[in-house]
Amino acid sequence: MSIRPARVEDFEAIAAITNHYIATTAIHFGYEPVTAGELVKYFGGKHPWFVTTSEAGEVLGYAKAGTWRDRAAYAWTCELGLYIADGARGRGLGRALYDVLLADLEQRGFRSAVAGITMPNAASVALHERCGFTRVGTFVDAGWKLGAWHAVEFWQKPLARVQGEPPVLAEGPRH
Ligand SMILES: CC(C)(COP(=O)(O)OP(=O)(O)OC[C@H]1O[C@@H](n2cnc3c(N)ncnc32)[C@H](O)[C@@H]1OP(=O)(O)O)[C@@H](O)C(=O)NCCC(=O)NCCS
Repeated sequence: MSIRPARVEDFEAIAAITNHYIATTAIHFGYEPVTAGELVKYFGGKHPWFVTTSEAGEVLGYAKAGTWRDRAAYAWTCELGLYIADGARGRGLGRALYDVLLADLEQRGFRSAVAGITMPNAASVALHERCGFTRVGTFVDAGWKLGAWHAVEFWQKPLARVQGEPPVLAEGPRH
């Protein structure tokens, strides 16, 4: 297993991993499958994406940061996403990916990271607890998917503690 920054050519695998959860669960609130082309539009800006791969180089999961809310003052807060391929969960890949992503975000100068978890999701709650997030609150009936309303818990982790003005966030990879 290894972890590296994502590349454009990873996005077919990233879309396939995501589409499993879109089609079969309420973990992801999309209704329609995503394409590599749609996802790659979010790649390459100030928010990093990482993948974990098998020995043979197959992408087994990814973790990414993105915009939480788009008004200017929110720039130093990012929202995370993390998906491990069906069949590769529960082997430590998610934890290892998140550790790399969180260290990178802190180094870039992000002030905190937030994550929304559709309830119930014991693995994701355990992961966020282990990685130092705290539960902020729950939005009840936040989404309708697969014939039911679903609550979403929001979690937050503090990152860079810079005094005064926050740093300018660099565009593009830092690796
Ligand atoms: C949630 C997810 C990213 C976690 O990644 P993972 O590789 O399966 O989890 P890990 O093996 O790294 O385990 C991380 C921690 O969660 C715990 N954990 C894992 N699966 C668990 C489960 N089903 N129930 C309870 N705890 C669990 C592990 O024990 C570990 O804690 P530890 O470090 O104290 O041992 C992964 O299961 C996944 O992709 N799930 C589907 C998509 C999803 O839910 N994404 C997150 C959306 S918010």
